[in-house]
Amino acid sequence: MSAEMNERSSAPIDRSGRIYVAGHRGMVGSAVWRALERNGFEDIVGRTSSELDLRDRDATFEWFRSSRPRYVVLAAAKVGGIVANSTAPVQFLSENLQIQVNVMDAALEAGVEKLLFLGSSCIYPKFAPQPIPEDSLLTGHLEPTNDAYAIAKIAGILQVQSVRRQYGLPWISAMPTNLYGPGDNFSPTGSHVLPALLRRYDEARRNGSPFVENWGTGTPRREFLHVDDMAEASLHLLDVYDGPQQVNVGTGVDETIAEIASHVAEVTGYEGETRWDTGKPDGTPQKLLDISKIRALGWEPSIGLREGLASTFAWYRDHVGELRNA
Ligand SMILES: NC(=O)c1ccc[n+]([C@@H]2O[C@H](COP(=O)([O-])OP(=O)(O)OC[C@H]3O[C@@H](n4cnc5c(N)ncnc54)[C@H](OP(=O)(O)O)[C@@H]3O)[C@@H](O)[C@H]2O)c1
Repeated sequence: MSAEMNERSSAPIDRSGRIYVAGHRGMVGSAVWRALERNGFEDIVGRTSSELDLRDRDATFEWFRSSRPRYVVLAAAKVGGIVANSTAPVQFLSENLQIQVNVMDAALEAGVEKLLFLGSSCIYPKFAPQPIPEDSLLTGHLEPTNDAYAIAKIAGILQVQSVRRQYGLPWISAMPTNLYGPGDNFSPTGSHVLPALLRRYDEARRNGSPFVENWGTGTPRREFLHVDDMAEASLHLLDVYDGPQQVNVGTGVDETIAEIASHVAEVTGYEGETRWDTGKPDGTPQKLLDISKIRALGWEPSIGLREGLASTFAWYRDHVGELRNA
């Protein structure tokens, strides 16, 4: 579906209306919950996956029929880093499709007025132009290590666009860049690069290791957005955006992995050497989102990487005993 169609301005959503945050215990969902509270929302609801497994279609419909939210933020998903994605593509495809199809079908039946679907920048082609504009969606091949996850997310965008086209509802999608912050996954098997680096450098400091060795050359460039900025962006889009095209959410700035590793060493207090295992793959050389669309909609990120890393590390240290292990 092309980008330019049917963009309208939207009225802010009602602070007294019931809003369901699917995945409210996750890194993004919990940040969205905090942002809703900060912004005066009075009726925020959530269910853990053990209370309501969103893969269960009947249970999901039943819950929507009885709870009747007016708004939904869909931040429940099976999420993981490169190892998890490349070893369990069946689960990443199937569980994400089930969760999002069930939630959107049930939300449609229950008359949800506005829904925000959250995807990820991995939906864009591996060789998309940098920074990546929204209209590069479906213009080339995906990165094979997370193509199953990406295809599920692309299907979600199409479901939102189809609901808009067929039922005229102002549902929307947002595509965040790499996120980090409180509630992140620091486990050795499930984590993304930033929490993995924080953990590795912290362990090296505590063990007195003379060096830390990271994969690759350290030259690829990556963009990271603090999850509290993502949560504010989500609310901003719910308030102001009504269009079919997914909206990129990032900082518009990237740094090399080596620069990021040196921030991590500083924040964790590690004073040893950083080595690079250049025999290991680097991944794509650059991944930066073009955020001109969300900027034009009046949103800017506010948390710098150094500041965000310091507060995330403080959170990590306070929660070491309670971290997830997969
Ligand atoms: N992390 C990133 O860097 C990043 C980047 C871009 C986009 N995103 C997107 O943001 C969204 C949330 O990611 P996240 O990082 O917050 O992930 P997360 O921390 O792993 O949280 C995912 C949440 O989904 C819930 N969930 C998973 N399976 C479920 C099921 N079958 N039924 C009900 N709930 C289920 C979990 O609930 P319980 O805790 O109750 O089990 C969990 O709270 C995803 O759509 C992801 O694509 C994340």
